[in-house]
Amino acid sequence: MEKKFKRTTVTSALPYANGPVHIGHLAGVYIPADIYVRYLRLKKEDVLFIGGSDEHGVPITLRAKKEGVNPQEIVDHYHKLIKDSFKEFGISFDVYGRTTSKTHQELASGFFRKLYDKGVFVEKTSEQYYDEEAHQFLADRYITGECPYCHSQGAYGDQCEKCGSSLSPEELINPKSAISGSKPVKRTTTHWYLPLDKYEPWLSKWILEEHKEWRPNVYGQCKSWIDMGLKPRAVSRDLDWGIPVPVEGAEGKVLYVWFDAPLGYISNTKELLPDSWEKWWKDPETRLIHFIGKDNIVFHCIVFPTMLKAEGSYILPDNVPANEFLNLEGNKISTSRNWAVWLNEYLVDFPGKQDVLRYVLTANAPETKDNDFTWKDFQARNNNELVAIYGNFVNRAVVLTQKYFDLKVPELGELTELDKQAFEDFKDIKTKVENLLDVFKFRDAQKEAMNLARIGNKYLTDTEPWKVAKTDMNRVGTILNISLQLAANLAIVFEPFLPFSSAKLRKMLNMESFDWTELGRRNLLETGHLLNTPELLFEKIEDEAVEAQVQKLLNEKKKNEETNYRANQIKETVTYEDFTKMDIRVGKILECQKVPKTDKLLQFKIDDGLEKRTIVSGIAKYYKPEELIGKQVCFVANLAPRKLKGIVSEGMILSAENNDGNLAVIMPEREVKPGSEVK
Ligand code: 2FM
Ligand code: ZN
Repeated sequence: MEKKFKRTTVTSALPYANGPVHIGHLAGVYIPADIYVRYLRLKKEDVLFIGGSDEHGVPITLRAKKEGVNPQEIVDHYHKLIKDSFKEFGISFDVYGRTTSKTHQELASGFFRKLYDKGVFVEKTSEQYYDEEAHQFLADRYITGECPYCHSQGAYGDQCEKCGSSLSPEELINPKSAISGSKPVKRTTTHWYLPLDKYEPWLSKWILEEHKEWRPNVYGQCKSWIDMGLKPRAVSRDLDWGIPVPVEGAEGKVLYVWFDAPLGYISNTKELLPDSWEKWWKDPETRLIHFIGKDNIVFHCIVFPTMLKAEGSYILPDNVPANEFLNLEGNKISTSRNWAVWLNEYLVDFPGKQDVLRYVLTANAPETKDNDFTWKDFQARNNNELVAIYGNFVNRAVVLTQKYFDLKVPELGELTELDKQAFEDFKDIKTKVENLLDVFKFRDAQKEAMNLARIGNKYLTDTEPWKVAKTDMNRVGTILNISLQLAANLAIVFEPFLPFSSAKLRKMLNMESFDWTELGRRNLLETGHLLNTPELLFEKIEDEAVEAQVQKLLNEKKKNEETNYRANQIKETVTYEDFTKMDIRVGKILECQKVPKTDKLLQFKIDDGLEKRTIVSGIAKYYKPEELIGKQVCFVANLAPRKLKGIVSEGMILSAENNDGNLAVIMPEREVKPGSEVK
């Protein structure tokens, strides 16, 4: 049975205020959230759209350190920059707060204290790595060292990105602090943990049984977390930037950023509505929806709901429509490699074209899988869809009305079959778009809106009023009346998606009333109603403009490759004796297969001249097994055996690493006897 709600609280992930926002953020979170909110507002539903900056956490302290300023300066700068970018793109927050506000500090602190007083937390003392130079404990990500499995350098304390093994910091060989480079030491520390394990039966029922309607990617991720077994999560950290843990004796400890950030949704609501915020968070007739990216799923579907449940007086999310990731020109968006389209830079390069980006990002929204943004596609969607279909139709309708009827909506005469068909074609637009938006299918919903423009465009092409004008002005009037009704419908249906263009079109059509319920009607503009002078809704984007963007990215790529190359310095000198300790040989690959449940490892059977040996190698991304079978390769024959994903690897296949990270296996230039030594 469908529940009836009185109001909807919509939140969108609070971005870290340590850098500008890019198209990945917009596509994954803010555009879908904004479309949804605008849609509800057009339907006159009671909705509140909460945004804000996430201003705590280690990355912010590191950025501050790097720039030699204090963290407050960093967050002040980026909070403003991010807030302005969102505003420019029409992301229509009711409030855009920050987690360094007094309201937030008090609310988050009070929330922690309430759980503490209720005895929810478990207190645990453990040994953790500490950086004596930087004077801070190190999160797993901030410890690097040699991977115990594939022996590559630069593995993180939680994972080796080369071979894909998950690690704990203790396993790293020669661990180093990523902050100061010094050797970390072990120190004991005490923290408070949220016992997710205790809430597991409840979470399992609440999500896996009661929220089967969540997107498959969200439901699936939750299921796999729950199936793996939930563990208590520390909700405090040893850090000097954040909200102090409100417990006696907890000096030097702050709330973990993922404990305080989601509470920011609540405190930002309170900042906006100091007297009535509670109804948006505590009334069971309020529906709560979190828009996030896939990396935030566990926090919004498991950790935050557990916090709310443990507190006891809050509602829980009704849905969490998380998106997958958007890539850029085939590569993962990366802040550190500057592989991104930054919103502030886009606005400088494409002034006034916010809706174009909104359109393209929704058309390619990573709703069900990771998707790719390319500048070619950006140009094509603008030129072939926005300009050639939507813009062209509207422009023809209004310009012809100006030419033949002095901008007055002409009378509707007798209808032909084509006219009836046009009305028939758009009468269901409201239901169609609603059915999609109600289940967060923004990409398909926008397609339906564009379809309406297609209907209009085709109608004008079929009826050819510019030709009919030579003989029958009444007929021209009918055609233009119908076209203008369609244009008025377009202004409404596109408002959630392309608000700037809708505002322009609405002004052009001089539309006073503007309401979702009117969608699909054939009489939105009365006969005799005066239009305003036509303006172009969209402009063609020339090749040079997108080529310049592609060039900008290529320059970045080149810079990154050069940096990687320089960073890859020659190792310390070794003696000839050292070198001869290595027994490198040629072997013939007899068998090769992927190691199940990894995307990086291949398992080989190699003829080493004496016997068959097993070797596991992290090259699955670069070779298919069948490409390698029968080939001769060089391998280290006297490397101590190591276990990789449960398989004992007896040696190491040698590959050359290109400066873009690609691996090429080393093979002898002509066939030799298996077991031949490499010298
Ligand atoms: O992943 C991020 O960018 C986080 N700053 C999102 C926080 S969402 C919420 F909890 F505030
Ligand atoms: Zn490794």
